[in-house]
Amino acid sequence: MEKFNPYKIGVIGGAGYVGLVTSVGLASLGHNVLSQDLNNNRINLLQLGKSEVYEEGLENILSDLIIKKYISFTDDIEKTIQHSDVVFVAVGTPSLSDGRADLSQIISVAEKLRDLINHYTIVVVKSTVPVGAIEIIEDILSEKLSVGEDFDVVSNPEFLREGSGLVDFYNPSRIIIGCNSESSGKILKEIYKPLLERNYIVDNSFSINNLNIEILLTDPVSAQMVKYASNAFLATRISYINEIAGISEKVGGNISDIIYGIGLDPRIGSEYLKPGIGFGGPCLDKDLRALITLSEENYFDSVMLNGVIRRNDLQLQEVINKIMSVIGSSLYKHRISILGLAFKEGTNDVRHSLSIRLSKFLIEQGAIVIGHDVLANKEASEIESKLNVSENLLEVLEDTEIVIILNSEKIYSEINWSNIKSKPYVIDTRGIVNINELEKYSIKYDVLGTK
Ligand code: UGA
Repeated sequence: MEKFNPYKIGVIGGAGYVGLVTSVGLASLGHNVLSQDLNNNRINLLQLGKSEVYEEGLENILSDLIIKKYISFTDDIEKTIQHSDVVFVAVGTPSLSDGRADLSQIISVAEKLRDLINHYTIVVVKSTVPVGAIEIIEDILSEKLSVGEDFDVVSNPEFLREGSGLVDFYNPSRIIIGCNSESSGKILKEIYKPLLERNYIVDNSFSINNLNIEILLTDPVSAQMVKYASNAFLATRISYINEIAGISEKVGGNISDIIYGIGLDPRIGSEYLKPGIGFGGPCLDKDLRALITLSEENYFDSVMLNGVIRRNDLQLQEVINKIMSVIGSSLYKHRISILGLAFKEGTNDVRHSLSIRLSKFLIEQGAIVIGHDVLANKEASEIESKLNVSENLLEVLEDTEIVIILNSEKIYSEINWSNIKSKPYVIDTRGIVNINELEKYSIKYDVLGTK
Protein backbone atom coordinates (compact mmCIF):
# COMPACT_ATOMS: atom_id res chain seq x y z
CA MET A 1 0.00 0.00 0.00
CA GLU A 2 1.27 3.49 -0.87
CA LYS A 3 2.28 5.67 2.05
CA PHE A 4 -0.55 7.91 3.26
CA ASN A 5 0.13 11.58 2.98
CA PRO A 6 -1.85 13.58 5.57
CA TYR A 7 -2.74 17.12 4.54
CA LYS A 8 -3.02 20.29 6.58
CA ILE A 9 -6.64 21.19 6.04
CA GLY A 10 -8.54 24.31 7.02
CA VAL A 11 -12.33 24.43 7.06
CA ILE A 12 -13.98 27.84 6.93
CA GLY A 13 -17.55 27.75 8.26
CA GLY A 14 -16.54 24.76 10.35
CA ALA A 15 -19.26 25.11 12.98
CA GLY A 16 -22.09 24.97 10.47
CA TYR A 17 -23.69 21.70 9.55
CA VAL A 18 -21.71 20.92 6.38
CA GLY A 19 -18.47 22.40 7.71
CA LEU A 20 -18.61 20.42 10.93
CA VAL A 21 -19.33 17.04 9.35
CA THR A 22 -16.62 17.73 6.76
CA SER A 23 -14.10 18.76 9.46
CA VAL A 24 -14.76 15.70 11.61
CA GLY A 25 -14.83 13.38 8.61
CA LEU A 26 -11.55 14.62 7.14
CA ALA A 27 -9.79 14.57 10.54
CA SER A 28 -10.91 10.99 11.07
CA LEU A 29 -9.14 10.08 7.81
CA GLY A 30 -5.88 11.19 9.46
CA HIS A 31 -5.62 14.75 8.15
CA ASN A 32 -4.67 17.63 10.39
CA VAL A 33 -7.77 19.83 10.49
CA LEU A 34 -8.16 23.36 11.77
CA SER A 35 -11.80 24.31 11.68
CA GLN A 36 -12.74 27.99 11.77
CA ASP A 37 -16.03 29.76 12.33
CA LEU A 38 -17.17 33.26 13.32
CA ASN A 39 -19.72 31.80 15.74
CA ASN A 40 -17.72 31.99 18.99
CA ASN A 41 -20.28 30.18 21.09
CA ARG A 42 -20.23 27.18 18.82
CA ILE A 43 -16.43 27.23 18.54
CA ASN A 44 -16.04 27.33 22.35
CA LEU A 45 -18.37 24.36 22.70
CA LEU A 46 -16.67 22.43 19.88
CA GLN A 47 -13.29 22.86 21.56
CA LEU A 48 -14.84 20.99 24.47
CA GLY A 49 -16.15 18.29 22.14
CA LYS A 50 -19.77 19.53 22.27
CA SER A 51 -21.88 20.35 19.24
CA GLU A 52 -25.01 22.51 18.97
CA VAL A 53 -25.76 20.84 15.64
CA TYR A 54 -27.30 17.46 16.40
CA GLU A 55 -25.74 14.58 14.49
CA GLU A 56 -25.86 11.10 15.87
CA GLY A 57 -22.46 9.83 17.03
CA LEU A 58 -20.65 13.04 16.15
CA GLU A 59 -19.66 14.08 19.67
CA ASN A 60 -18.00 10.70 20.38
CA ILE A 61 -15.82 10.86 17.29
CA LEU A 62 -15.11 14.54 17.89
CA SER A 63 -13.85 14.03 21.45
CA ASP A 64 -11.59 11.23 20.29
CA LEU A 65 -10.17 13.41 17.49
CA ILE A 66 -9.58 16.33 19.87
CA ILE A 67 -7.69 14.10 22.32
CA LYS A 68 -5.60 12.66 19.49
CA LYS A 69 -4.98 16.22 18.24
CA TYR A 70 -6.24 15.63 14.69
CA ILE A 71 -8.74 18.47 14.93
CA SER A 72 -8.93 21.86 16.61
CA PHE A 73 -11.28 24.83 16.39
CA THR A 74 -10.65 28.53 16.13
CA ASP A 75 -12.34 31.81 15.20
CA ASP A 76 -9.07 33.04 13.63
CA ILE A 77 -9.36 32.96 9.84
CA GLU A 78 -5.77 34.15 9.25
CA LYS A 79 -4.36 31.29 11.30
CA THR A 80 -6.64 28.84 9.47
CA ILE A 81 -5.62 29.96 5.99
CA GLN A 82 -1.91 30.08 6.80
CA HIS A 83 -1.98 26.70 8.53
CA SER A 84 -3.50 24.96 5.52
CA ASP A 85 -2.45 23.42 2.22
CA VAL A 86 -6.08 22.89 1.37
CA VAL A 87 -8.93 25.15 2.55
CA PHE A 88 -12.49 23.84 2.41
CA VAL A 89 -15.07 26.62 2.26
CA ALA A 90 -18.42 25.68 3.81
CA VAL A 91 -20.05 29.02 4.59
CA GLY A 92 -23.75 29.63 4.02
CA THR A 93 -25.33 30.67 0.73
CA PRO A 94 -28.91 31.54 1.77
CA SER A 95 -31.60 32.50 -0.76
CA LEU A 96 -32.22 36.15 -1.55
CA SER A 97 -35.86 37.22 -1.97
CA ASP A 98 -35.59 36.82 -5.77
CA GLY A 99 -34.38 33.20 -5.47
CA ARG A 100 -30.72 33.94 -6.24
CA ALA A 101 -28.10 32.68 -3.80
CA ASP A 102 -26.63 35.30 -1.45
CA LEU A 103 -22.88 35.14 -2.13
CA SER A 104 -21.80 37.75 0.41
CA GLN A 105 -20.21 35.23 2.80
CA ILE A 106 -18.40 33.46 -0.05
CA ILE A 107 -17.11 36.77 -1.41
CA SER A 108 -15.85 37.88 1.97
CA VAL A 109 -13.99 34.55 2.42
CA ALA A 110 -12.49 34.91 -1.09
CA GLU A 111 -11.21 38.39 -0.15
CA LYS A 112 -9.62 37.00 3.01
CA LEU A 113 -7.98 34.20 1.01
CA ARG A 114 -6.69 36.76 -1.51
CA ASP A 115 -5.11 38.80 1.28
CA LEU A 116 -3.83 35.99 3.50
CA ILE A 117 -2.65 33.07 1.35
CA ASN A 118 1.15 32.87 1.76
CA HIS A 119 1.91 29.52 0.07
CA TYR A 120 0.28 27.37 -2.66
CA THR A 121 -3.24 26.57 -1.42
CA ILE A 122 -6.10 24.62 -2.92
CA VAL A 123 -9.43 26.28 -2.21
CA VAL A 124 -12.21 23.71 -2.18
CA VAL A 125 -15.74 25.03 -2.42
CA LYS A 126 -18.12 22.80 -0.44
CA SER A 127 -20.90 25.37 -0.17
CA THR A 128 -23.55 25.06 -2.87
CA VAL A 129 -22.77 28.06 -5.04
CA PRO A 130 -24.36 28.98 -8.36
CA VAL A 131 -22.58 28.24 -11.58
CA GLY A 132 -20.30 31.21 -12.16
CA ALA A 133 -19.37 31.64 -8.49
CA ILE A 134 -16.20 29.56 -8.85
CA GLU A 135 -15.05 32.05 -11.50
CA ILE A 136 -15.92 34.95 -9.17
CA ILE A 137 -13.75 33.38 -6.43
CA GLU A 138 -10.92 32.84 -8.92
CA ASP A 139 -11.20 36.45 -10.11
CA ILE A 140 -11.04 37.80 -6.54
CA LEU A 141 -7.99 35.67 -5.66
CA SER A 142 -6.33 36.63 -8.96
CA GLU A 143 -6.35 40.28 -7.93
CA LYS A 144 -3.22 39.52 -5.86
CA LEU A 145 -2.28 35.90 -6.60
CA SER A 146 -1.61 33.69 -9.63
CA VAL A 147 -3.90 30.79 -10.43
CA GLY A 148 -1.94 27.52 -10.72
CA GLU A 149 1.07 28.97 -8.85
CA ASP A 150 -0.40 30.40 -5.65
CA PHE A 151 -3.80 28.74 -5.67
CA ASP A 152 -6.32 26.58 -7.48
CA VAL A 153 -10.07 26.57 -6.90
CA VAL A 154 -11.94 23.27 -6.91
CA SER A 155 -15.65 22.52 -6.61
CA ASN A 156 -16.41 19.51 -4.40
CA PRO A 157 -20.15 19.53 -3.65
CA GLU A 158 -21.52 17.69 -0.65
CA PHE A 159 -24.37 15.18 -0.57
CA LEU A 160 -24.86 15.01 3.18
CA ARG A 161 -28.31 14.67 4.69
CA GLU A 162 -28.84 16.40 8.02
CA GLY A 163 -29.09 13.91 10.82
CA SER A 164 -27.31 11.25 8.70
CA GLY A 165 -24.36 13.43 7.77
CA LEU A 166 -21.67 11.13 9.14
CA VAL A 167 -23.25 8.05 7.58
CA ASP A 168 -23.24 9.92 4.27
CA PHE A 169 -19.66 11.14 4.73
CA TYR A 170 -18.37 7.60 5.27
CA ASN A 171 -20.61 6.07 2.59
CA PRO A 172 -20.76 8.62 -0.19
CA SER A 173 -22.85 7.66 -3.20
CA ARG A 174 -20.12 9.43 -5.21
CA ILE A 175 -17.38 12.00 -4.82
CA ILE A 176 -17.59 14.81 -7.37
CA ILE A 177 -14.50 16.90 -8.02
CA GLY A 178 -14.73 19.83 -10.42
CA CYS A 179 -11.35 21.32 -11.24
CA ASN A 180 -9.47 23.08 -14.01
CA SER A 181 -6.05 21.67 -13.16
CA GLU A 182 -5.08 18.02 -13.13
CA SER A 183 -2.78 18.44 -10.12
CA SER A 184 -5.47 19.88 -7.84
CA GLY A 185 -7.83 17.04 -8.80
CA LYS A 186 -5.10 14.55 -7.92
CA ILE A 187 -4.62 16.07 -4.47
CA LEU A 188 -8.36 15.96 -3.77
CA LYS A 189 -8.37 12.28 -4.72
CA GLU A 190 -5.49 11.69 -2.31
CA ILE A 191 -7.35 13.45 0.48
CA TYR A 192 -10.29 11.06 0.12
CA LYS A 193 -8.12 7.96 -0.38
CA PRO A 194 -8.33 6.68 3.24
CA LEU A 195 -12.10 6.87 2.92
CA LEU A 196 -12.01 4.56 -0.08
CA GLU A 197 -9.65 2.22 1.76
CA ARG A 198 -11.71 2.38 4.98
CA ASN A 199 -8.70 3.60 6.95
CA TYR A 200 -9.62 5.72 9.95
CA ILE A 201 -7.78 6.93 12.99
CA VAL A 202 -10.89 6.64 15.19
CA ASP A 203 -13.34 3.80 15.79
CA ASN A 204 -15.88 3.96 13.08
CA SER A 205 -19.18 2.21 13.09
CA PHE A 206 -20.59 4.30 10.28
CA SER A 207 -19.04 2.54 7.30
CA ILE A 208 -21.33 0.19 5.50
CA ASN A 209 -18.45 -1.49 3.71
CA ASN A 210 -19.03 -0.22 0.22
CA LEU A 211 -15.53 0.05 -1.16
CA ASN A 212 -16.70 0.88 -4.68
CA ILE A 213 -17.04 4.59 -4.19
CA GLU A 214 -16.79 6.31 -7.53
CA ILE A 215 -14.86 9.54 -7.93
CA LEU A 216 -15.92 11.70 -10.86
CA LEU A 217 -13.33 14.21 -12.02
CA THR A 218 -14.97 16.88 -14.13
CA ASP A 219 -14.99 20.61 -14.77
CA PRO A 220 -16.31 23.00 -12.04
CA VAL A 221 -19.54 23.89 -13.89
CA SER A 222 -20.53 20.24 -14.34
CA ALA A 223 -19.66 19.49 -10.70
CA GLN A 224 -21.96 22.27 -9.54
CA MET A 225 -24.70 21.17 -11.92
CA VAL A 226 -24.49 17.63 -10.48
CA LYS A 227 -25.27 19.11 -7.06
CA TYR A 228 -28.16 21.32 -8.22
CA ALA A 229 -29.62 18.67 -10.48
CA SER A 230 -29.48 16.06 -7.71
CA ASN A 231 -31.35 18.21 -5.20
CA ALA A 232 -33.82 19.30 -7.88
CA PHE A 233 -34.44 15.66 -8.80
CA LEU A 234 -35.03 14.72 -5.16
CA ALA A 235 -37.47 17.63 -4.81
CA THR A 236 -39.20 16.50 -8.00
CA ARG A 237 -39.73 13.02 -6.58
CA ILE A 238 -41.39 14.48 -3.49
CA SER A 239 -43.68 16.83 -5.42
CA TYR A 240 -44.47 13.98 -7.79
CA ILE A 241 -45.51 11.60 -5.02
CA ASN A 242 -47.45 14.34 -3.24
CA GLU A 243 -49.38 14.92 -6.44
CA ILE A 244 -50.03 11.18 -6.87
CA ALA A 245 -51.14 11.05 -3.20
CA GLY A 246 -53.63 13.86 -3.90
CA ILE A 247 -55.08 12.03 -6.91
CA SER A 248 -55.10 8.72 -5.02
CA GLU A 249 -57.12 10.30 -2.23
CA LYS A 250 -59.73 11.61 -4.68
CA VAL A 251 -60.20 8.27 -6.45
CA GLY A 252 -60.03 6.06 -3.36
CA GLY A 253 -56.53 4.54 -3.63
CA ASN A 254 -54.05 3.60 -0.93
CA ILE A 255 -50.82 5.53 -1.35
CA SER A 256 -48.55 3.11 0.51
CA ASP A 257 -49.61 0.25 -1.80
CA ILE A 258 -49.21 2.55 -4.79
CA ILE A 259 -45.66 3.51 -3.75
CA TYR A 260 -44.80 -0.12 -3.17
CA GLY A 261 -46.18 -1.02 -6.60
CA ILE A 262 -44.34 1.81 -8.36
CA GLY A 263 -41.12 0.96 -6.55
CA LEU A 264 -41.10 -2.61 -7.81
CA ASP A 265 -39.95 -1.20 -11.14
CA PRO A 266 -36.19 -1.07 -10.57
CA ARG A 267 -35.94 1.94 -12.88
CA ILE A 268 -38.05 3.87 -10.37
CA GLY A 269 -37.42 2.31 -6.94
CA SER A 270 -39.30 3.34 -3.81
CA GLU A 271 -36.65 5.49 -2.13
CA TYR A 272 -37.42 9.11 -1.45
CA LEU A 273 -41.10 8.78 -2.30
CA LYS A 274 -42.70 9.52 1.05
CA PRO A 275 -45.66 11.88 0.74
CA GLY A 276 -46.17 14.52 3.41
CA ILE A 277 -46.50 18.24 3.98
CA GLY A 278 -43.81 18.89 1.35
CA PHE A 279 -40.06 19.33 1.39
CA GLY A 280 -38.64 21.74 3.94
CA GLY A 281 -35.18 22.43 5.26
CA PRO A 282 -32.34 24.63 4.20
CA CYS A 283 -31.40 22.88 0.94
CA LEU A 284 -33.98 21.53 -1.50
CA ASP A 285 -36.16 24.62 -1.87
CA LYS A 286 -33.15 26.97 -1.93
CA ASP A 287 -31.26 24.96 -4.54
CA LEU A 288 -34.34 24.47 -6.69
CA ARG A 289 -35.02 28.22 -6.71
CA ALA A 290 -31.37 28.96 -7.49
CA LEU A 291 -31.48 26.53 -10.43
CA ILE A 292 -34.68 28.13 -11.76
CA THR A 293 -33.09 31.58 -11.48
CA LEU A 294 -29.98 30.32 -13.27
CA SER A 295 -32.09 28.97 -16.11
CA GLU A 296 -34.09 32.24 -16.34
CA GLU A 297 -30.87 34.27 -16.41
CA ASN A 298 -29.87 32.13 -19.35
CA TYR A 299 -33.24 32.63 -21.13
CA PHE A 300 -34.34 29.03 -20.57
CA ASP A 301 -37.86 28.34 -19.35
CA SER A 302 -37.77 25.66 -16.64
CA VAL A 303 -41.46 24.70 -16.79
CA MET A 304 -41.04 21.51 -14.82
CA LEU A 305 -38.96 22.85 -11.92
CA ASN A 306 -41.47 25.68 -11.43
CA GLY A 307 -44.17 23.01 -11.16
CA VAL A 308 -42.18 21.23 -8.44
CA ILE A 309 -42.12 24.43 -6.35
CA ARG A 310 -45.81 25.10 -7.01
CA ARG A 311 -46.85 21.63 -5.82
CA ASN A 312 -44.73 22.07 -2.70
CA ASP A 313 -46.37 25.40 -1.92
CA LEU A 314 -49.84 23.86 -2.42
CA GLN A 315 -49.05 20.89 -0.19
CA LEU A 316 -49.20 22.95 3.01
CA GLN A 317 -52.65 24.18 1.94
CA GLU A 318 -53.74 20.54 1.48
CA VAL A 319 -52.99 19.93 5.17
CA ILE A 320 -54.77 23.15 6.18
CA ASN A 321 -57.81 22.05 4.15
CA LYS A 322 -57.84 18.74 6.01
CA ILE A 323 -57.79 20.56 9.36
CA MET A 324 -60.61 22.87 8.27
CA SER A 325 -62.69 19.99 7.00
CA VAL A 326 -62.69 18.66 10.57
CA ILE A 327 -62.97 21.88 12.59
CA GLY A 328 -64.62 24.26 10.12
CA SER A 329 -63.16 27.44 8.71
CA SER A 330 -62.87 29.24 12.05
CA LEU A 331 -59.96 27.82 14.04
CA TYR A 332 -60.33 30.34 16.87
CA LYS A 333 -59.69 28.72 20.28
CA HIS A 334 -59.62 25.22 18.79
CA ARG A 335 -56.91 23.00 20.23
CA ILE A 336 -54.54 21.46 17.71
CA SER A 337 -51.47 19.27 18.38
CA ILE A 338 -48.55 18.97 16.02
CA LEU A 339 -46.14 16.04 16.13
CA GLY A 340 -42.83 16.78 14.41
CA LEU A 341 -41.53 20.36 14.44
CA ALA A 342 -38.09 20.10 12.83
CA PHE A 343 -38.01 20.12 9.02
CA LYS A 344 -37.74 16.33 9.16
CA GLU A 345 -37.17 13.55 11.68
CA GLY A 346 -33.70 12.90 13.14
CA THR A 347 -32.62 16.54 13.30
CA ASN A 348 -33.07 19.57 15.57
CA ASP A 349 -33.04 21.94 12.59
CA VAL A 350 -36.20 24.04 12.33
CA ARG A 351 -34.99 26.25 9.46
CA HIS A 352 -37.57 26.32 6.66
CA SER A 353 -39.64 23.77 8.55
CA LEU A 354 -43.11 23.46 7.06
CA SER A 355 -44.36 22.32 10.49
CA ILE A 356 -43.34 25.68 11.88
CA ARG A 357 -44.99 27.45 8.94
CA LEU A 358 -48.19 25.49 9.59
CA SER A 359 -48.06 26.22 13.34
CA LYS A 360 -47.62 29.92 12.64
CA PHE A 361 -50.64 29.95 10.34
CA LEU A 362 -52.83 28.09 12.86
CA ILE A 363 -51.74 30.42 15.69
CA GLU A 364 -52.49 33.47 13.53
CA GLN A 365 -55.98 32.06 12.99
CA GLY A 366 -56.47 31.98 16.78
CA ALA A 367 -55.95 28.24 17.32
CA ILE A 368 -54.23 26.97 20.47
CA VAL A 369 -51.34 24.94 19.15
CA ILE A 370 -49.16 22.57 21.13
CA GLY A 371 -46.22 20.86 19.50
CA HIS A 372 -43.87 17.98 20.17
CA ASP A 373 -40.57 16.97 18.63
CA VAL A 374 -38.04 14.38 19.70
CA LEU A 375 -35.07 16.71 19.18
CA ALA A 376 -36.26 20.21 18.32
CA ASN A 377 -38.65 21.46 21.04
CA LYS A 378 -36.25 24.15 22.25
CA GLU A 379 -35.39 25.34 18.74
CA ALA A 380 -39.09 25.39 17.73
CA SER A 381 -40.17 27.52 20.67
CA GLU A 382 -37.28 29.89 20.03
CA ILE A 383 -38.27 30.41 16.40
CA GLU A 384 -42.05 30.60 17.11
CA SER A 385 -42.60 32.03 20.59
CA LYS A 386 -46.40 31.57 20.53
CA LEU A 387 -46.06 27.85 19.96
CA ASN A 388 -46.46 25.81 23.15
CA VAL A 389 -44.21 22.78 23.20
CA SER A 390 -44.02 19.87 25.58
CA GLU A 391 -41.57 17.03 26.12
CA ASN A 392 -44.48 14.96 27.36
CA LEU A 393 -46.12 13.29 24.36
CA LEU A 394 -49.14 12.16 26.38
CA GLU A 395 -49.81 15.73 27.44
CA VAL A 396 -49.67 16.83 23.79
CA LEU A 397 -52.16 14.14 22.79
CA GLU A 398 -54.69 14.71 25.58
CA ASP A 399 -57.37 17.41 25.53
CA THR A 400 -56.83 18.26 21.92
CA GLU A 401 -59.23 18.11 18.99
CA ILE A 402 -56.81 17.23 16.22
CA VAL A 403 -53.42 15.56 16.19
CA ILE A 404 -51.38 16.19 13.04
CA ILE A 405 -48.45 13.85 12.41
CA LEU A 406 -45.86 15.58 10.23
CA ASN A 407 -42.79 13.39 10.49
CA SER A 408 -42.08 9.66 10.63
CA GLU A 409 -40.49 9.50 14.08
CA LYS A 410 -40.87 5.95 15.41
CA ILE A 411 -42.49 7.02 18.69
CA TYR A 412 -45.39 8.51 16.74
CA SER A 413 -46.08 5.21 15.02
CA GLU A 414 -45.98 3.48 18.42
CA ILE A 415 -48.44 5.71 20.29
CA ASN A 416 -50.69 3.70 22.55
CA TRP A 417 -54.03 5.24 21.60
CA SER A 418 -55.88 3.37 24.35
CA ASN A 419 -54.28 5.87 26.78
CA ILE A 420 -55.76 8.90 25.02
CA LYS A 421 -59.11 9.56 26.59
CA SER A 422 -60.12 12.63 24.56
CA LYS A 423 -60.10 10.66 21.24
CA PRO A 424 -58.73 13.42 19.02
CA TYR A 425 -59.11 13.31 15.24
CA VAL A 426 -55.78 12.12 13.74
CA ILE A 427 -54.39 13.55 10.50
CA ASP A 428 -51.44 11.40 9.50
CA THR A 429 -49.44 12.97 6.64
CA ARG A 430 -46.78 10.24 6.76
CA GLY A 431 -48.88 7.07 6.73
CA ILE A 432 -47.28 5.75 9.93
CA VAL A 433 -50.16 5.24 12.36
CA ASN A 434 -51.69 1.86 12.98
CA ILE A 435 -55.17 2.33 11.57
CA ASN A 436 -56.50 -0.84 13.20
CA GLU A 437 -55.54 0.57 16.59
CA LEU A 438 -57.31 3.85 15.88
CA GLU A 439 -60.44 2.01 14.74
CA LYS A 440 -60.30 -0.21 17.81
CA TYR A 441 -60.51 2.87 20.04
CA SER A 442 -63.07 4.63 17.80
CA ILE A 443 -60.65 7.38 16.87
CA LYS A 444 -61.40 9.07 13.54
CA TYR A 445 -58.52 9.61 11.15
CA ASP A 446 -57.38 10.84 7.76
CA VAL A 447 -54.23 9.39 6.19
CA LEU A 448 -52.77 11.54 3.40
CA GLY A 449 -53.07 9.83 0.02
CA THR A 450 -55.61 7.29 1.23
CA LYS A 451 -59.41 7.50 1.05
C1 UGA B 1 -30.86 17.17 1.15
C2 UGA B 1 -30.36 16.03 0.25
O1 UGA B 1 -31.10 14.85 0.54
C3 UGA B 1 -28.87 15.79 0.47
O2 UGA B 1 -28.41 14.81 -0.45
C4 UGA B 1 -28.11 17.10 0.24
O3 UGA B 1 -26.72 16.96 0.46
C5 UGA B 1 -28.65 18.16 1.20
O4 UGA B 1 -30.07 18.33 0.95
C6 UGA B 1 -27.91 19.45 0.94
O5 UGA B 1 -28.00 19.98 -0.19
O6 UGA B 1 -27.17 19.89 1.81
P1 UGA B 1 -31.58 17.34 3.73
O7 UGA B 1 -32.00 18.75 3.39
O8 UGA B 1 -30.80 17.08 4.95
O9 UGA B 1 -30.75 16.72 2.51
O10 UGA B 1 -32.92 16.53 3.89
P2 UGA B 1 -33.69 15.37 3.14
O11 UGA B 1 -33.56 14.14 3.93
O12 UGA B 1 -33.34 15.30 1.71
O13 UGA B 1 -35.20 15.91 3.29
C7 UGA B 1 -35.61 17.17 2.72
C8 UGA B 1 -37.10 17.38 2.92
O14 UGA B 1 -37.84 16.48 2.10
C9 UGA B 1 -37.59 17.13 4.35
O15 UGA B 1 -38.57 18.09 4.67
C10 UGA B 1 -38.21 15.74 4.28
O16 UGA B 1 -39.22 15.52 5.24
C11 UGA B 1 -38.79 15.77 2.87
N1 UGA B 1 -38.94 14.41 2.29
C12 UGA B 1 -37.86 13.65 2.05
C13 UGA B 1 -40.22 13.96 1.96
O17 UGA B 1 -41.24 14.65 2.19
N2 UGA B 1 -40.35 12.72 1.42
C14 UGA B 1 -39.27 11.93 1.15
O18 UGA B 1 -39.48 10.80 0.63
C15 UGA B 1 -38.00 12.40 1.49
